[in-house]
Amino acid sequence: MHYFVYRGEELFVEEVSVKALAAEVGVPAYVYSARTLRRHLKVFEQALAGTDHLICFAAKALSNLSVLKLLAAMGSGFDIVSQGELMRCLRAGADARKIVFSGVGKSAEEIAAALKAGILMFNVESRPELYQIAAIARRLKTRAPISLRVNPDLDPGTHPHISTGHRTSKFGVPLKQLAEYYDEAQALKELEVVGLSTHIGSQITEPEPFREAGEKLAGAMRDLLAKGIELRYLDLGGGVGVPYQDESIELEDYASAILKPLRALKVKLIAEPGRVIAGNAGVLLTRVLYIKETDVKRFIVIDGAMNDLIRPALYDAYHAIWPVDKREHAELAVADVVGPVCESGDFFARDRLLPLPRPGDLLAVMGAGAYGFVMASNYNSRPRPPEVLVDGQRWHVVRERETFDDLIRGEKLVELGPEREP
Ligand code: LLP
Repeated sequence: MHYFVYRGEELFVEEVSVKALAAEVGVPAYVYSARTLRRHLKVFEQALAGTDHLICFAAKALSNLSVLKLLAAMGSGFDIVSQGELMRCLRAGADARKIVFSGVGKSAEEIAAALKAGILMFNVESRPELYQIAAIARRLKTRAPISLRVNPDLDPGTHPHISTGHRTSKFGVPLKQLAEYYDEAQALKELEVVGLSTHIGSQITEPEPFREAGEKLAGAMRDLLAKGIELRYLDLGGGVGVPYQDESIELEDYASAILKPLRALKVKLIAEPGRVIAGNAGVLLTRVLYIKETDVKRFIVIDGAMNDLIRPALYDAYHAIWPVDKREHAELAVADVVGPVCESGDFFARDRLLPLPRPGDLLAVMGAGAYGFVMASNYNSRPRPPEVLVDGQRWHVVRERETFDDLIRGEKLVELGPEREP
């Protein structure tokens, strides 16, 4: 549920007319709804109510400082995967003791920065990483809180690019070897072994993979306990899907599937939701440039492109496309919605039935709050769009549109002749 709704013919975000907003900030632009973000965080909290838990929003989904600040002010922790995300979270006022650090390739510099910040724990993905963290903690004369990320070897039934819980994926340590890893970790005195974690994939819309993960985690926790290894935290990762089209999973069903096998355990649960908090809280606003008709196809060419929102190109992802001004008798037609980038992969929709817009009309690409702006690039030397955060009747540009100077920042014009100097 979100707060992008029509009033009569016109699309509003909360109390703000999208058309009026576009007139002020221009397009393409990302527009987020603060009320939707708050609501999603609260609903997720409610789904876990009754169990000792901490929500660590996956910053990678949407990492604008003002969004992180809003969530931090509501008590959210954060799941980070880089020093850049660490710095964003700290800058936004996050409590370092509510930050967990995930990822298979944490560099020495990143580990040191997180240790100095005093994060809650590192979710460790490999044996060499264990030793690396221990060595850095020794150098900094401190101890590092760690959890081991287990790969539960299951199929979450999602797109292969975002499926992480199968044993052939690069993520986590094998379930079978978990006990050995814990023995090794405990032998390193610079490590404080505090948790077990996992993350099985993203955009999961069935409860079953979560139930399976819950059972495997519960089994692993029991086995570890039998060996005298008592852990404080169980980090379930993220992965709850959102309804981009017809797919859906109720948060209560997710929670009951994953929590049921874990009820008897005395641990604090950590969840790392990203998409379910931010996905439907944002849209990419664009304008129609041309309607191009060929003998076999109709293309709606818009000013947004794959550099702004790469999900359709990368995952063949479906995003609903809504007219900002719904005229009463808009003729329905089948068309491809495409951007200006010089690749056939630069599309937002293929053979989609939608109300045929005219050049100059505004379109909202829905469900673009998560993995939208954060994955944007400057491909084709296109400046990245601004980000706007709406809250009730008010709105704020929380990131400005990039300029040509931004595009070439750091580049040098060196002088080289047509031939190499002897
Ligand atoms: N925790 C870890 C360790 C993760 O790797 C991820 C996402 C999350 C939490 C959050 O997962 P979520 O609740 O958002 O499903 N760019 C892709 C999604 C990549 C997800 C990567 N990991 C997309 O646009 O669909």
